[in-house]
Parts: sequence; C-alpha cells; structure tokens
Amino acid sequence: MRTSLLSDWLAQRLDKASVEPSYRQLQRLLREAILAHELPAGRKLPSSRMLATELGIARNTVIQVYEQLAVEGYLLAGTGSGTFVADSSPDQQMLGSAAAAPASSDSGEHLSQRGQRLIASAGVSRRQWGAFVPGVADVTRFPAAIWSRLQARHMRNPRPELLSYAPPGGHAPLREALADYLRNARSVRCEPEQIIITTGIHQSVDLAVRLLCDPGDAVWTEDPCYWGVRSVMQASGLQLKPIAVDAEGINPSPEDLATPPRMMLVTPSHQYPLGMVMSLARRRMLLEFARQRDCWIIEDDYDSEFRYANRPLMSLQGMDDADRVIYVGSFGKILYPGLRIGYLVVPPALAEPFAVALAELYREGQLLQQAVLSDFIAEGHFSSHIRRMRNVYGSRREILMQEISRHFGDAVSVRGDEAGLHLVATLPGHVDDRQIAQDALAAGIATRPLSSYYNQANAPERGLLLGYACVQDDDIARHFATLARVIEEHLQIHR
Ligand SMILES: Cc1ncc(COP(=O)(O)O)c(C=O)c1O
Repeated sequence: MRTSLLSDWLAQRLDKASVEPSYRQLQRLLREAILAHELPAGRKLPSSRMLATELGIARNTVIQVYEQLAVEGYLLAGTGSGTFVADSSPDQQMLGSAAAAPASSDSGEHLSQRGQRLIASAGVSRRQWGAFVPGVADVTRFPAAIWSRLQARHMRNPRPELLSYAPPGGHAPLREALADYLRNARSVRCEPEQIIITTGIHQSVDLAVRLLCDPGDAVWTEDPCYWGVRSVMQASGLQLKPIAVDAEGINPSPEDLATPPRMMLVTPSHQYPLGMVMSLARRRMLLEFARQRDCWIIEDDYDSEFRYANRPLMSLQGMDDADRVIYVGSFGKILYPGLRIGYLVVPPALAEPFAVALAELYREGQLLQQAVLSDFIAEGHFSSHIRRMRNVYGSRREILMQEISRHFGDAVSVRGDEAGLHLVATLPGHVDDRQIAQDALAAGIATRPLSSYYNQANAPERGLLLGYACVQDDDIARHFATLARVIEEHLQIHR
C-alpha cells in the first residue's frame, strides 16, 4: 500500500461511532497492515500532523499510537526524518528450510503422537451430574453453612501464608489431621510428613509416575480399570499392560509375573469398576512380589469410606512392610468433586522428593481451602458427614436395586454394590452396552458402558455403570423407568 493511499485506507476503516476508542482502532489497523505485509518494512508513514488532519482526529492520538507501536517494535520513530515501518519479519535463512507448513483444518494433525493417543482414547464425559452419573457425590448435601463459617474465620483476617504458594507437601495442619484420620479409618501407617496434598488422584498418579517411572517403563493396570488414571499414565509414555481381574482382584498369570513391571495400579478395597474386594491371599502375593521384584504399587482408595454391609477394610498400605505402596485418596467423592483436593501417602524415604517435586512442577496453592478442610476434619464435621452420607447413599442404592429387580427380575444382575457410589447392572453378553448408553443419554439419562472400561475391543462383560449418589431418592424410580425402556428395546432387538 502506497503511503499516499494509507490515509484513505485508514479513513474507510476508522469508525468514529464505535465504542472502541480511535487510538485503539488506529493501533489495531496499523498492526494488522504491518503483519499482513500491506505496509512493508521501510515504508514511511505520513507525519502525525498530516494523518490527524486526514482522519479528523487529534494529533496527540496519532503521536500516542506511533509511540506505542514503536515501543512494540512495529515502527521506527524519533529519527528526525519521520516514522518508518520496522523490519520485524522473520529471517527465513535463520529458520532453515523455508518450505511453507501445509495448512490443516484437522486439529489432530497439530498434536504430538502421545497427544493424539490421549484424545483418541479420552473417556471424559460432558455430563457430570444427575441420574445416573457414576462416582459423583450428592453435592446438594455438602454442609455449606459449616464450611462457610470455617472459611469466614480464616478470611476475616487471612494470614499471609494462607494466601501464598503452598509449602512443599501442603498445609501442615491438614497433613496432621489427615494422618490421624487415615491411621484410624483406613489403617494407613503414616506420619504427617509422608502425606502430600495434591489436587486429586489424577495429579497424585501423575506425580508418582513422573518421579518413579521413565518413559517406556512397563506398568500394570487392572482390566477393566478407571479410564482417567489410565490416560494419565499413557500420556507419560509408559507401556501399559492390562492384567485381567477375577473375584479376588488383579490376577497376573505366571507369564506376567515372570516379567515384573516398574509399577502397578490397583484398587484393592473396591475394584473399579466391578466392585470386588482384593482377597488377603492376593494382597500378600502382590506385596511379596513387589518386595522381591522391586516394583511400586499404587493403591487407589477412591471411595472406600462408603461401605454398606460391613466395616471399611484395611488398606493394602497398612500391610506393607517393605515400603513399596503409594496410597492415593481424594476428597472429591466425600465432599464434592470440584473441591480438587486429594493426597498421596508415600514411604518415608520418598516424602521429601515428592513434596519438592509437587511444588516444583505445579506450584500448588489453595491453602485457604486446605486450612478450612483441616478445621473441618479436626472439628469432627468430616466424620459426621461421612456417616450421614453413608445412610443417604445406602438408601438410594436400595431403591435403585429394587427398581432394577422390579423391571428386569433375573435378566439383569447387579454387582459391585457393597460399597462406593455406583453399581454395575450386568447385561447379556450379546448386547451393545455402548449403544445403550448413547440411546439413554439421548433420553436424558447418563450411564457408562462397562465395556468402555476394558482395554480390549471385545470386552468379556457387558453392562452399565449406574451412579446413585447424585439422584434424589424420589427421582430414582422415574429416571430408572426411562433407562429401563431403552434397555428393554435393546434386549428385544437381540432376543
Ligand atoms: C477409581 C477412581 N480413581 C480416581 C478417580 C478420580 O479422582 P480425583 O477426582 O481425585 O482425581 C476416580 C473418579 O471417578 C475413580 O473412579
């Protein structure tokens, strides 16, 4: 664009009626013209007096714009001989091969290989609440009044430490309160220093993997397992080896045992998603194997607070004499998922490196929330909330099981219902549970197909995961009737 044309070009585009001030419009237009090579390097711009007159704006506005664009490197000004477009275009020789990158409309092409794998196997759902989203607590029962009172206490005159970055490992009083709770409720053997406060199990697993594994290391996961931590591990470049489960939990074959992994991830208290408890014999075998073959066990104890028939079981960590178990837990299922506070319990020798790495990698904060949570635990609200919610969820589980049996009798059996926030309604092996889940979603009901938790394409079992915690008692029958109609249609199709 010739300099003489520039004033016309700008005048056509400058909108004096716009809410965007003239100086900002002028800056934007000149920047755009330079970046689009409409104004090449070295081109002289009209003097501020001339441009102001031609555009009918104040000269000061033009001066201000020229000065700002000079500061940003678009223009060269103040040489006495005028204002020029600066040469800011990249040096193609320095960039090496100048072949233009192919334009692509497919976002996948921009991703790394591990990025593409992550997105291709992503399991995260857009629905996080309502009938029958698995694994979500009833957030409407969260004792908000108590929480806000405790929060107000800290907020009235917040200590500077609470508004700063977190110290390595998290807020000390929370680590103490949690150590007490875990020792009593879960038989975890720990001192407060071994507790590392994170944003949840996802982050805990990510940290453990980064510190204890290298890319390419073999890691065992249960098959089926929770898709979220599988994705976290996969994204770290680990070789995941799915190991089948039986009624006693993870069940490695003699061939599996012959090639030990660097790490394994298990859910001993309540296998996710099928719900069985790992037997004592299997626990002892795994601990001995880990000790002899020098591998790590991550114990994901995500929801064991809610057991309906008997007392919560002892953790695997509490039986470990060789410091091979990393215990991970979360407050998401007890309080509310969006709280994003969880923790790891690591062997004493790992406590310092884990605390330092956490602060180094993620620059943790949220100390106010951690302080409120530690008061909430120390003052007994946490235990009462668990007791109250165990009753609430226990009765919802009963109602849902009755509805399943009323609609389907023996045709649909239930498993994994002794604990947690969901159960599995198992379906005949020939039905397509993914299609059922899709059709149910179209009818307004969120479930997850059991087959999507298996590693292999042809899952050995079909079913639906039904979360009962975030559906009010009175709504369960109505929502289940909607779901039952969808299931019936599929069962009839396949009869
Ligand atoms: C087995 C299992 N582990 C971990 C998580 C996630 O925990 P967090 O929300 O603390 O990252 C879930 C969530 O549903 C889960 O089901």
